[in-house]
Amino acid sequence: MTNLEPYWMPFTANRQFKAKPRMLVAAKDMHFTTDDNRSILDATAGLWCVNAGHCRTQIVEAISQQVSQLDYAPPFQMGHPGAFELAERLVKMNSGNFDHVFFTNSGSESVETALKIAIAYHRVKGEGTRQRLIGRERGYHGVGFGGISVGGISPNRKFFGSLLNGVDHLPHTHNLEKNAFTRGQPEWGAHLADELEKIVTLHDASTIAAVIVEPVAGSTGVLIPPKGYLERLRTICDKYGILLIFDEVITGFGRLGASFATEYFGVKPDLVCTAKGITNGTIPMGAVLVRPGIYDAFMNAPENTIELFHGYTYSGHPVACAAALATLNIYEEEALFERAANLATYWENAVHSLKDVSQVIDVRNLGLVAGIELESMAGKPGKRAFDCFIRCFEKGLLIRTTGDIIALSPPLIIEQKHIDRIVEMLQEILREVG
Ligand SMILES: Cc1ncc(COP(=O)(O)O)c(C=O)c1O
Repeated sequence: MTNLEPYWMPFTANRQFKAKPRMLVAAKDMHFTTDDNRSILDATAGLWCVNAGHCRTQIVEAISQQVSQLDYAPPFQMGHPGAFELAERLVKMNSGNFDHVFFTNSGSESVETALKIAIAYHRVKGEGTRQRLIGRERGYHGVGFGGISVGGISPNRKFFGSLLNGVDHLPHTHNLEKNAFTRGQPEWGAHLADELEKIVTLHDASTIAAVIVEPVAGSTGVLIPPKGYLERLRTICDKYGILLIFDEVITGFGRLGASFATEYFGVKPDLVCTAKGITNGTIPMGAVLVRPGIYDAFMNAPENTIELFHGYTYSGHPVACAAALATLNIYEEEALFERAANLATYWENAVHSLKDVSQVIDVRNLGLVAGIELESMAGKPGKRAFDCFIRCFEKGLLIRTTGDIIALSPPLIIEQKHIDRIVEMLQEILREVG
C-alpha cells in the first residue's frame, strides 16, 4: 500500500484526500481508469489540457522517439530543430498576428514571462516608467508572484505577503442579476472595460505597462466576456500605448472552437500566454506569443549581447517540443477545433437543460466550456458543488468545481453520447445531493 503522507498535494484538501483517496491509474480517449478499475468519463479534459483525448498513440510515439534520440539540449546559447519548428508552427496557426514565441514550462511561467516582456519592452523602447500592471478581479493567472499579483482570487493571494507593487485591478464582469442563463456572450457588461480609463486617469498612461485578462475566465468559474468588452479593452489600450495580454492558457488550442480566443473574438492582443493544450497535457510546456514589433524592439543592442535576460532550463525542451508537434498534427488532421465549433450548439442545449434543477442559479457556456453555478448552502460555501464532485467521481464522471460553480471543459473528441451522459449524470446527482 502506497504511503500517501509525504506528498504535499497542490490545491488539494490533503487530509480529506488522504482519508479517502481518488486514484487514477490509466486513461484512454474520453475516460480515466481508477485503481479499483472503474471507468471515469472525463468532462474536464484532465485540467483543461487533454484537448485531443487521452493517451493518443501519435503523441506517445513522438515522445518515446524523441527521448531516445535527444533527451535534452541546453536552451541557452544552444538550440535543437524541434523548438524552431514548433515556434514556426505556432506562429502560422495565428494568421500573422504573432511573429515570435518564447517557450516556458507551464501557464504560470508563461504569465511571468509575458509580464516581464511587457515591462522590458517599454524600457527598451525608452519608456522605462511604464511598469504598472493591471489585472482583473477574479482573474487566475497561475501561482507565480506576478500571476497572483495581477490575479484576483483572494485565497491565492492573502497568504503570500505584499505581492508585487504597482498593480491595479479592473472589476470582474460576473453579474447574475443581469446575465443569468445567458447562452454565449452576455449583452450586459461591455462598459466595465471603461474602468481602465479611470485607472489611467489615476496613474497616468506613462506609468502603465500592460493589462492582462483571460478572454474567458476559467478557473474562477467560467466567466464569459460580455459582448464588446474585449474590443473595448483593446481600444483603450491602443489609445494609451498599453500592451494587452490575453492569458489563453485555457482558451488556447481549440477550447472555443477556434485555434485561440483571439481568433474566436477577432480581438488582437499584443501577447498571448499559452500552456496546457499545447502538448495535450502530456509533457509540461507553455509558450508566449508576441505580436510583430515586440521581439524586434529588443534587437537593437550590440549583436553579442543577450537581448532578454530571462529563460528556463527546460525552455523548448526537446521532448515537450516533440509532444507539441505531434499534438498540433492531431488537432489539424482531425480538425478538432472545427469539431468543437460544430458541437458547440449541441453542448449549449445540453448544459442549459440543467436550468430546471432547483439548486442551479446559472448556466453559462461558450465553445466547449460550461459553468453551472449552484446556490450555496447557508454558511457552507462550496460544499454543495464539492459534494456533487465526490458523487460524480463515485458514479464515474470527472467534473471540476470552484466554490459552488461546476466547470466543464471536455476533450474536443467528445461525442454527443458523452455529452448526453454528462448532463444525465449531473441531473441525477444534483437532485441526489440536494
Ligand atoms: C488562465 C490561466 N493562466 C495560468 C494558469 C496556470 O497554469 P499552470 O498551472 O500550468 O501554471 C492557468 C491554470 O489553470 C490558467 O487557467
